[in-house]
Amino acid sequence: MKIRTRFTPEWIQSLKAALPLHEVVSENVELRKTGARFMGRCPFHGDRSPSFSVNREFYYCFGCKETGDLIKFVMQLHGLSFEEACEDLAEKAKIQLPEGGEALSSEEERAIRIKRERLQKAVRLNYFSSLQYYHENLQRGTGSPLFIEAREYLKKRGISAETVEKFQIGVAGAQADGLVQYLTRARAPLDIARDFGLIRASQKTQGDYDFFRERLLFPLIDPRGRILGFGGRILPSVEKKPSEFKLPKYLNSAESELFQKSRFLFGLTQAKRAIREEEVSIVVEGYFDVIALHQAGIENAVAPCGTALTEDHLKTLTRLGPRVIVFFDQDEAGIQATVKSMELGLRMGQLLYGISFASKLDPDEFLLESPEANLKQLRQWIQEATPLLDRELDRLFRESEGQVEKRSAAVKQAVQWLTQYTDPVGRAIRVSDLVKRWDVPPAALGALSKDLDGRVGVPPRRPAPVVSVDPRRAPPPGGQKKRAPLTPYDRQLLQYFVKAREFGSYFLEARRQMHEKDSLPELFDDTEVQNWVRMILEDPAGLERLKEAPESWVQGRVSLELQSVIMEGLLQERIQGDEAQLRALLRRGVYKSWARFSHRIREEMVRVEQAQDMEKFKELSQQFLDLQRKLKEFEESYVSGKND
Ligand code: UTP
Ligand code: MN
Repeated sequence: MKIRTRFTPEWIQSLKAALPLHEVVSENVELRKTGARFMGRCPFHGDRSPSFSVNREFYYCFGCKETGDLIKFVMQLHGLSFEEACEDLAEKAKIQLPEGGEALSSEEERAIRIKRERLQKAVRLNYFSSLQYYHENLQRGTGSPLFIEAREYLKKRGISAETVEKFQIGVAGAQADGLVQYLTRARAPLDIARDFGLIRASQKTQGDYDFFRERLLFPLIDPRGRILGFGGRILPSVEKKPSEFKLPKYLNSAESELFQKSRFLFGLTQAKRAIREEEVSIVVEGYFDVIALHQAGIENAVAPCGTALTEDHLKTLTRLGPRVIVFFDQDEAGIQATVKSMELGLRMGQLLYGISFASKLDPDEFLLESPEANLKQLRQWIQEATPLLDRELDRLFRESEGQVEKRSAAVKQAVQWLTQYTDPVGRAIRVSDLVKRWDVPPAALGALSKDLDGRVGVPPRRPAPVVSVDPRRAPPPGGQKKRAPLTPYDRQLLQYFVKAREFGSYFLEARRQMHEKDSLPELFDDTEVQNWVRMILEDPAGLERLKEAPESWVQGRVSLELQSVIMEGLLQERIQGDEAQLRALLRRGVYKSWARFSHRIREEMVRVEQAQDMEKFKELSQQFLDLQRKLKEFEESYVSGKND
């Protein structure tokens, strides 16, 4: 539960010492020295005059206000996570990565090193196969009629020579072991080619055979420029050929340590710059759609490799630009996938956007149909993108007009979506729209989902049973007053808190991890709960008394709702849940504490900047960055901890 990273401040310092910031920046931005700093055109927004300033440790854009250090620069530029950026820079600086955090045995270190070397070799092998073999075959190959067919097919689909280069498209012929022979001649490590899916050991004979055959090949390149695998489209003549079993239209490299569909986006390396500059990405369904859009100048398009959008995909995209437009095919499957993506976004607190694409064609076919007019039309639709949630709510509303049963189902669906949406403000606005435009009584909404006007925390594992409280015994002052219901998070955490004897040490540990200006009660959301906890903690015998005579802390002191939650916690022999759940709850509390603090620093930065106190600003930026990093790691551990 410690905020732990293998990248210690000392290690990061050594990395920065090895790689001056301006050198890394100047690989992507033309810099000119002016006085003690460098200036250039900002890579993070469409910058006409040089407003991007780089000094020894930080960069700052006078235009878009983007600021950060070496690691943040690489994260932003390539859309990498903190870890990935560190790995990337370490490789560039040729310095050792720190291993794991705790001391590793030499045996473990060796295993880690071997694994890393294998991955590097696999990347090189993919690169070699792509450029020297598949791409070469497409560009100049004469050894197979399929090479010629592939060139013609691309031309027919409107793909230019320049685009073929940009995406490093290639072709695999019909020969069973063409690549095997080529790699053998080059003395490449065949075991690695086997492990990472380029070739396969034959069941029948001694030898190996190629994994990809008779296909157009798209290298799957990650934002760091590494080829992780390939996606292959069957060639039309092969597709038409009668065969005993139906060949899949597209075939991707098998999942490996290198390539995972759930984390990979096709086109990202070509799109990242445009996504950053335009602050929006467009997710389409197919390889050809990405390629056609890029060729038409819409360079912020990416696609998953035949899977649904994942949390990982969305995180990657929003690291580069805040807005994500989902632009899937307009068939049944595409529409369903769009709604699924929207729901995923809602759970992540993010509104995905959609466009009004009034065509049955796939995006690439649409552009090919009438390149100029349709491109203009498409650009306009993209310009007019609106949140999918509003589109879908609108659709529900329209389709249920005047039909009671349908309207009732629509309301339930709407409530379900709004409940999933974790942004309280955006939600409140839409709830009020639901009440006004749909004319749904607010009480009906409340009954559908208690959570709807509450804040969202960790979802409860089971509904909290109602504990009857004897009404004759002192109704609490003000206890009947209207108040926001407790969040599920508070409810659960309270149940652990009142079992102080068993769980006290967890709370104390969490307290140590919170920001120093916060105290334990601030782990809770609700002020009444905070005050109650504070009252107990301020009494030296408070916790003891809670255990021995809990009523004395409860009766007449807190609202009925709180009473029932507390009593329930006290009465239970054992808590339904476990230490892992408690840890997840506390992690959220600690996270909130740091998030609050980070927010304050941000405000302070704005003040200091206006006062032109650059020294102080720098100091605060550093603090802010460190905090963001901490929060980010925390967020990741929180997400992964949620399922433990
Ligand atoms: P589609 O079946 O919609 O193909 O698959 P497409 O993009 O229209 O293909 P073209 O235009 O005929 O060439 C969309 C995406 O789903 C994945 C691929 O990533 C493809 O681009 N897919 C599709 C697979 O992974 N396997 C398949 O068999 C089919
Ligand atoms: Mn298509």
